[in-house]
Amino acid sequence: MLIIKNKCWAIGIAVISFLSTAHAETLKQLNDTTIDQDLSQLIIKHKLTGTPEGVEKLPSINSPKAQLGMKLFYSKTLSGDNTTACATCHHPMLGGGDNLSLSIGVDSQNPEVLGVHRRLKNNQMARVPRNAPTTFNIGLWKKALFHDMRIEKIDGKGIHTPDMPYPQVDALAGENLVQAQARFPVTSKDEMRGEFLKGTYNQTMRRALAERLKKNWLKAFRTGFSDPTTSADDLITEQNISEAIAEYERSQVFINTPWKRYIEGDRQALSLAAKKGAKLFYTSQSKGGAGCVRCHSGDFFTDEKAHNTAMPQIGNGKDNGITGSNDYGCYLVTQKETDKFRFRTPSLLNVEVTGPWGHDGAYTSLEGITRHMLSPIKSARNYDPKQLKQSVATKDVRKNTLEAIKAGVDITPKPKVSQTDVKNLVAFLQALTDPCVKDRACLSKWIPDANDNDPDKQMLHALNNKSGDTL
Ligand code: HEC
Ligand code: HEC
Repeated sequence: MLIIKNKCWAIGIAVISFLSTAHAETLKQLNDTTIDQDLSQLIIKHKLTGTPEGVEKLPSINSPKAQLGMKLFYSKTLSGDNTTACATCHHPMLGGGDNLSLSIGVDSQNPEVLGVHRRLKNNQMARVPRNAPTTFNIGLWKKALFHDMRIEKIDGKGIHTPDMPYPQVDALAGENLVQAQARFPVTSKDEMRGEFLKGTYNQTMRRALAERLKKNWLKAFRTGFSDPTTSADDLITEQNISEAIAEYERSQVFINTPWKRYIEGDRQALSLAAKKGAKLFYTSQSKGGAGCVRCHSGDFFTDEKAHNTAMPQIGNGKDNGITGSNDYGCYLVTQKETDKFRFRTPSLLNVEVTGPWGHDGAYTSLEGITRHMLSPIKSARNYDPKQLKQSVATKDVRKNTLEAIKAGVDITPKPKVSQTDVKNLVAFLQALTDPCVKDRACLSKWIPDANDNDPDKQMLHALNNKSGDTL
């Protein structure tokens, strides 16, 4: 009897515990369903498809022109002192950037070393005033390039560049924003020009670089432009150089994210935390969300407008403000008082791998920048420069940031921010990563092979540290 009773007990407990596990399971599913339903409404409301507009028009990396562009992008011949390539600051293995808060171009200790171990000669503090944005998905921008939008499409007219007074269009800008941009790094003293042809016009400088290439690059250009007969003088021009580089950059399309799969119907593509983060991201503050979508809108996560987000201003800046080390952002282009401290809203695709974050790389963690976007002024006031991983001027951070705050910040802080909110938003941001950008084998199409034909033996063979590991 006693035994039977015990057995009953045991069965009873087993049944109860089975029921309660089942109950918890259903509750969890219910929860998941509710958040999936909320999200599907938000996805409809914000007209998201997962695929940014214009992707289908972008070129393949396998086209001959993109292949030539890749060689040029990795060639140190395009810098004044033959040490620096575009890839020095925009390497696919470093998220299409350089992993530095502020870039280091010419005058480096070891030109092949990229990333946090890159140093200027004599360990000087970084001189480039801004963070190198990613070249990933660069062909998806419709309106403007650069943090201050100084390359801008002027509707119906053409493209404005810094070679012209604002807002005049530049007849030499080329086919698209990316080509227009590619003509400028070589003219920047701290990025690629150095002391080469000091004091000359930008165009003189570009022509001089084209002249250099004529010696060894004719075969590569003839293949790239599928033009076997044209002479070096007619084929190796600054226009064709920028056209080929742009073709390569525009082939860097990395949009296949878990978030895209989720929008397309795969409910397993996101973790519950990422789903909660997405809900915060797409829900306005008036409805209890974080309202990020107000600026990071659409499938490319940007309104392509400029805003003042009180980003702590580190580095030498653009010689602006009371300290002389501030950066007035778009004001420098338009001279409009209201544009002071405004910077273009960055895309958030692959944001996980494009750090440090902000126009000057002030934040070195995704959590830090996320907290900042939730309550910019508080975060800016508490900014800790100790997080920086390189030698950067920081003595004026407080004064500079205060000046930006006084100019009027465009984000109202979210009233209550919990640690879970931050964690969930970060999980969502991580769901915007295309797995290819974390995979050397997948990225190898965009990185020249060490034994590829190298016209003048000037190809950058990037190392990620002094021990000699190749990137
Ligand atoms: C020394 C580092 C460095 C080198 C070398 C360099 N860049 Fe950059 N690049 C930057 C920085 C910093 C910015 C942002 C400047 C700004 O917005 O004021 C930038 C901006 C860009 C942008 C605009 C991105 C956007 O989202 O608006 C593109 C595209 C780009 N660079 C391509 C190139 C190409 C092509 C080359 C070679 C011809 C090159 N870069 C060489 C550091 C570098
Ligand atoms: C008022 C417009 C606006 C809102 C709202 C906004 N952002 Fe931003 N965001 C920006 C601008 C502008 C920048 C660049 C600022 C700079 O560099 O000075 C930026 C930068 C970022 C960056 C750094 C990206 C990079 O490549 O450096 C992240 C991450 C980010 N925002 C996430 C968020 C999140 C998460 C939210 C919601 C909590 C949010 N943002 C709300 C405009 C906005």
